[in-house]
Amino acid sequence: MEHQVSHRPPPRVLVFPLPAQGPVNSMLKLAELLALEGLYVTFLNTHFTHNRLLLHTDMQARFETYPGFLFKTISDGLPDDHPRSGDTIMEVIHSINSESKSIFKQLLLSNELGTSEGNPLVSCIIVDGIFGGFTTDIANELHIPIIHFRTFGACCIWVNMNIPNVIEAGELPVRGEEDMDRLIKNVPAMESFLRFRDLPSFCRASDLTDPNLQVFVQQTLHSPRAQAIILNTFEDLEGPILSRIRTLCPNIYSIGPLHMQLKRRLASKESSFQSFNSLFEVDRSCMTWLDAQPPKTVIYISFGSITVMKINQLIEFWYGLVNSNIRFLWVARLDLVAGDGNHAQIPPELLEKTKDRGFIVGWAPQEEVLAHPAVGGFLTHSGWNSILESIVAAVPMICWPYFADQQVNSRFVSEVWKLGMDMKDVCDRKIIEKMLNDLMVERNEEFSKAANKMGRLARQSVHKGGSSYHNLDRLIEDIRLTSS
Ligand code: UDX
Repeated sequence: MEHQVSHRPPPRVLVFPLPAQGPVNSMLKLAELLALEGLYVTFLNTHFTHNRLLLHTDMQARFETYPGFLFKTISDGLPDDHPRSGDTIMEVIHSINSESKSIFKQLLLSNELGTSEGNPLVSCIIVDGIFGGFTTDIANELHIPIIHFRTFGACCIWVNMNIPNVIEAGELPVRGEEDMDRLIKNVPAMESFLRFRDLPSFCRASDLTDPNLQVFVQQTLHSPRAQAIILNTFEDLEGPILSRIRTLCPNIYSIGPLHMQLKRRLASKESSFQSFNSLFEVDRSCMTWLDAQPPKTVIYISFGSITVMKINQLIEFWYGLVNSNIRFLWVARLDLVAGDGNHAQIPPELLEKTKDRGFIVGWAPQEEVLAHPAVGGFLTHSGWNSILESIVAAVPMICWPYFADQQVNSRFVSEVWKLGMDMKDVCDRKIIEKMLNDLMVERNEEFSKAANKMGRLARQSVHKGGSSYHNLDRLIEDIRLTSS
């Protein structure tokens, strides 16, 4: 595409993610896609997350190959010794929303985000919508176009947009356990299957002024103030929900699955693909172990970067695994278990019983693992990136949601897309054993068929002529037009 006016440098886009693994992963991929198509990008990360990326990746060297690509950092407003791990992410979000407004504005007004020759001032901001409020205020004040990137699926964004109506109608707060299976009537298009227990986790608060619920809902209400919204999803997966969101935010770029989009576009430019944006040290030893396993026999088990489980839940999972007799690859993130626990807390007799059919790593190369022929199922916390990666790899899922959007995602996996099962709010060894057997054996054909079909559609969407491919081109063109 020849959009560039000969002597003018390309527009500079500021990309500002929520500093957690999933969102950083997808927004760094978007940043690379923009750079690949010739835009200048400044990737603004918190000091803490930037340093972790530097520790575990070669990203600085890799991105230096893109003309005009800059990494910049901003304070998250928390003290240096704050742990910033696991589910303390909500504290980071509150802190950035309350503390970073003036620093963000100063940065935009200063020369720091790119002003030397060939590095023009920021002409478009793409921000994680969870920071949509203060960033949109500043963007409007400075007359810079702003686009909200939502790292959740359209399904959760639409639920968030309707929570004020759910509250207004008196459907919230939840009155107790007996209320949890009642259907929600005030989220249009979901009346027949969305239960109280499927609402985003923060809706379980008995007090509706709960700060986590407030930030979740309020920041989504800022979406219509942005010029556009970017969603890491694709039309064949969430078309009907996207149409609903378009009634409030007409300009939506659905450009996912981003990891696949990047992979395709790098390949078309004869550049090789590699996963490089991890906040954790990747242990690749599991790939050799997987090579030695028969096709479609291994369940991959990972709860993402934030989930924290209790020790008794860990034990239930392990008894379920032992009793199922199924091969597994377990990701034991260092802060996965509450307290000072890690996989050292798994009872030695259970480890002993599974030593011939199980493998444990601290952090896996997940995209590669899911694409490995030995992997036949994914037990996941249902974080949005994990779901998309599983869909692309055509791997059926068991969902055990932890918080935020995951409760909605897991309902869609089981009831709408039929790509697996939802184990929400249950952690019992017998049920785990049964679900593992259902997914990998008894109902494997049924789930695999649906997963293969959706996987094909996902991959097609990022091919030339596919909806996500087209929408990314449109996004890039619109950024060029509004910046000229
Ligand atoms: C967070 C929220 O938890 C999630 O609900 C929301 O949808 C996105 O933000 P996170 O917990 O990090 O995300 O989960 P997820 O979105 O699934 O992202 C995890 C990322 O880490 C994935 O891209 C996955 O490939 C990667 N990962 C995970 C690894 O590379 N190795 C692992 O061992 C585990």
